[in-house]
Amino acid sequence: MISGSKIILRKKRLTDAQNDYLWQSDPELARLDALPPVTIPFDEYLPAYTSELRYSAPTRHSFAVETLDGKHIGNCTYYNVNEAKSEAELGIMIGNRAHWDKGYGTDAVSTLISYIFRNTNLKRIYLKTLDSNIRAQKCFQKCGFTPYGHLVRDGFNFVLMEIHHKEWQEQQT
Ligand SMILES: CC(C)(COP(=O)(O)OP(=O)(O)OC[C@H]1O[C@@H](n2cnc3c(N)ncnc32)[C@H](O)[C@@H]1OP(=O)(O)O)[C@@H](O)C(=O)NCCC(=O)NCCS
Repeated sequence: MISGSKIILRKKRLTDAQNDYLWQSDPELARLDALPPVTIPFDEYLPAYTSELRYSAPTRHSFAVETLDGKHIGNCTYYNVNEAKSEAELGIMIGNRAHWDKGYGTDAVSTLISYIFRNTNLKRIYLKTLDSNIRAQKCFQKCGFTPYGHLVRDGFNFVLMEIHHKEWQEQQT
């Protein structure tokens, strides 16, 4: 378990499946992630979810985001871990809309970055977000990410953002 000031990050559990299914099948949340919503029924979703939890790839580390009183409000992940390049990609989803714009996303991302830079050899974290997703960009900027380019993929326009260990370390003082 990793503690922030407003959230904790904990290991994913099978009991998260119901919330994750709800969020992944929500068209607005899927659109914010530039993904198609999940449309299969829950009883088909669960077996794949279970095996992903059991056999998770070493290049992917997913955490549930919980409020301090134990409510599961989203997920935060670092993935595409590339040891040779000392870098990984970061993703976040606060699925529970009642918790948007209250600092939970910023605390979850800051807490995960701090964990990564203190506990792994990774030196660069990068991400992509839709250029229309101003909330996400503000959240990432508050965590110290800076834009470094644009990407057009599958008809979506993304802003690319990154943070380096050295810059993060300087921001800590
Ligand atoms: C994006 C997300 C992680 C941000 O987390 P959050 O807890 O809602 O955000 P925070 O409260 O930490 O920060 C958001 C900031 O954006 C601001 N904001 C929100 N909408 C805005 C808008 N339309 N224009 C300008 N600023 C905006 C908020 O006021 C806040 O800034 P402040 O703290 O200076 O007031 C979360 O909303 C989420 O997961 N959304 C759904 C999925 C998604 O977009 N994922 C990101 C994919 S890359």
